Amino acid sequence: MTTKPLIIANLKMNPRTQKEAEMLYKGIGSFAKNFKKSEIVVCAPYPYLSSLSKIKNSLKLGVQDVHEEKEGAYTGGVSASMAKSVGAKYAIVGHSERRRAGDADEVISKKLLQTIKSGLIPVLCIGESVRDEKGDYHLVVKQQLIGSLAGFPKAQLKTLVIAYEPVWAIGKSAVREATPEESREMAIFIKKVLSDTYGANTAEKVRIIYGGSVNTENAESFLQHGGVEGVLVGRESLNAKKFGKIIGLAQMSK
Ligand code: PGA
Repeated sequence: MTTKPLIIANLKMNPRTQKEAEMLYKGIGSFAKNFKKSEIVVCAPYPYLSSLSKIKNSLKLGVQDVHEEKEGAYTGGVSASMAKSVGAKYAIVGHSERRRAGDADEVISKKLLQTIKSGLIPVLCIGESVRDEKGDYHLVVKQQLIGSLAGFPKAQLKTLVIAYEPVWAIGKSAVREATPEESREMAIFIKKVLSDTYGANTAEKVRIIYGGSVNTENAESFLQHGGVEGVLVGRESLNAKKFGKIIGLAQMSK
């Protein structure tokens, strides 16, 4: 790993109340203060951002999605600039749970543009639903990558983070955990697609992280052998102590 490890918590639709969110955020913050060499981001539900941004610690805030339009008559929508104005620095875009809810690559590419236009750092999630023996999942990942990045300005690619999240390894219903070798192989593949499309110099600057059932037991091997510069953590980020342990492991893997 050449850069600071990037450790992102995706809280999803948790916790239940603002008070619990504040406790979790403070808890993570107190673990993080001993590990300043990592960049730690907590992607919280929108309603909590404002109050979390008032808590002073070394954590950065992010959101889990943004609307594809800038503003207007989109009932229920939250724009990237709204998220920015209440303290977000990062935005996850194209998470498999949003793709399942209907976000196609075309919509994701618009969301990515809104993200960078408003000054948020985009975390683009890509990953295949199944692994087939022929290796067609490479094509799936390549199409997601190229489709989602359509129209993305080349000069801004240096800010982009790509999270490789194989859908079969995410959440409680995961088929199994991915191995660090599988993560490394895909990270190399993603860099190759980026390099073929944008040139090696640009591809080199894009940060790739791994997500999908990352926990206190496997985080270190993903960080050391997974060919990635960080991890995106779902379930284990809801427990400050466990997430704090992952933050500590990231520091050691540097
Ligand atoms: P998980 O979720 O760590 O609970 O598998 C990761 C994600 O969906 O980003």
